[in-house]
Amino acid sequence: MKFVALSGSLRAGSLNTAVVRTVADLCLPPVSVTVYEGLGQLPFFNQDVESVCPPPEVMAFRELLASADAVLVSSPEYAHGTSGVLKNGLEWVVGGGELVDKPVAVVTASPSMTGGDRAQAWVKETLEVMGAKVLPESLPIPLAGAKITDGRVHDEATLAALKDVLAAMARAAKEQGAREE
Ligand SMILES: Cc1cc2nc3c(=O)[nH]c(=O)nc-3n(C[C@H](O)[C@H](O)[C@H](O)COP(=O)(O)O)c2cc1C
Repeated sequence: MKFVALSGSLRAGSLNTAVVRTVADLCLPPVSVTVYEGLGQLPFFNQDVESVCPPPEVMAFRELLASADAVLVSSPEYAHGTSGVLKNGLEWVVGGGELVDKPVAVVTASPSMTGGDRAQAWVKETLEVMGAKVLPESLPIPLAGAKITDGRVHDEATLAALKDVLAAMARAAKEQGAREE
């Protein structure tokens, strides 16, 4: 089973990138996680470009998502929304439909008490309108600065919650696979 995980933050010390790294560490065979790190290299979405010839980095992103059994998105909250780079990446995938019926978990890590819940609602709405199966086990991580150090999640309760998210992704991917057979 193949998962793809991506962070919506380009910041070197990003809490959300630490979540994605931790998720990759937590997954054991037969589940593999590919961490996508190319969001910052995608050009700004342009429908004219998309309709003529999407650039190779966009095609590679689309193909990676298409090949995933489930996807995990970890988003920062900026001004009560998600990051521009994540929204831009998602815009490139609307037309191709690579996330249609795809199980997707949304995590938001924020140093605030709210855990980025507004960004989480925002990302979920965008994914839902794209046809993704957004998992109810999606997770806000409040006060994330205290739970994440040295680029990894160390808080036991958060690690347990992330394992639950991964288990939900595996269940949903299996159910989706059975429906497609
Ligand atoms: C421009 C800007 C806007 C922000 N707006 C919010 C916000 O609306 N809500 C929130 O919880 N945190 C907000 N923050 C704090 C971010 O959640 C925090 O910087 C977080 O660590 C960013 O995610 P990252 O660590 O993955 O890069 C904001 C930070 C910046 C730089």
